[in-house]
Amino acid sequence: MLAKELHRKRALGVVGSPRYAGNTEILVDEVLRGAQDAGAQTEKVILNQLNIAPCQACGRCMGTGECAQRDDMPALLEQMKQSQIWVLGTPVYWSGPTAQFKAFLDRWYSARQVDFEKPRVVLVMPMGEPNVAYADCTVQTVKTALAYLKVELFSVVPVPDVWDLSEVRERPDALEAAYRAGREATEIDLSQARADAGEEAVLLSSEPDSPEEATLWLDDLAKMTCPRLVVTGAPIPLLQDEVLIGRVKPEVTPVPDVDLVPHGGDRMGVSRHHARMLRGSGGWVLEDLESTNGTFLNGEQVPPGQQVRVRTGDLIRFGTLTLIFYE
Ligand SMILES: Cc1cc2nc3c(=O)[nH]c(=O)nc-3n(C[C@H](O)[C@H](O)[C@H](O)COP(=O)(O)O)c2cc1C
Repeated sequence: MLAKELHRKRALGVVGSPRYAGNTEILVDEVLRGAQDAGAQTEKVILNQLNIAPCQACGRCMGTGECAQRDDMPALLEQMKQSQIWVLGTPVYWSGPTAQFKAFLDRWYSARQVDFEKPRVVLVMPMGEPNVAYADCTVQTVKTALAYLKVELFSVVPVPDVWDLSEVRERPDALEAAYRAGREATEIDLSQARADAGEEAVLLSSEPDSPEEATLWLDDLAKMTCPRLVVTGAPIPLLQDEVLIGRVKPEVTPVPDVDLVPHGGDRMGVSRHHARMLRGSGGWVLEDLESTNGTFLNGEQVPPGQQVRVRTGDLIRFGTLTLIFYE
């Protein structure tokens, strides 16, 4: 094999939907396409075509590190071990992942001792409901299982409001977010991006005037890795140690540092001064500012005036607008 081939990153797509060419598979393909365009080798498995039995909780893996069941899971774990990017896709079924995907996650129980190479994990989740908050539970399930493997989520692409077979093909915004997630997972050099954070502060000083401009402006910042909130793939930088979040209106002061109007804040119940986020010695915290429709962290309401700790991958909901926090 050529040395160049050996050094290429490998991206593994895992499709958890039973529907062939369904929304999950289309989105996983888009993430893989982004990864491939950024230089990765890609491969894809469809869980519904594999034989992965549910965990029997026999405890054998606790002693031996190996599962007692002889099916397709050991080979899939080996593929995961060889891959630096995991693209995990499941539709939301009754607020959680599909049975196929859950069986796959449960079998990670036997992989605690496997030394995965800190893969970057992109989670894609199409769902029928228009409110992305219904995906909270799926994200938590995946995060919990990943934590068991000592692996973190890199990015999440939730795609609400898609029910029908292949409907996501009509959603260029979602396809673009998935493609970009694949590129980012493959090409972002975290240490370099952190070193560049000072330059991003300069970008922030020329804030946009209109929603259209804001979207472009956010796209320009898509590769950032500083603390940020992400809405369907578009990152919003958190560059100060205290950030006021709400909706910018000419007559309202102080002006929020993060304006959620370009992300549907008006129709999704975001208050003008909705919440604030602060970076303390123990990390980032979130505080609701007595907003009309509330602030929620991973599905639980944050009592107004109380500061709660937020961590990478947490889902923060302002009214019905959900964002993902990255530190
Ligand atoms: C059994 C079942 C349960 C579902 N439960 C939910 C749900 O709780 N919330 C939701 O938003 N969508 C739900 N959906 C809709 C799917 O998430 C949606 O159709 C998705 O686009 C399917 O992705 P696919 O085309 O990859 O299969 C459900 C669909 C099925 C078949």
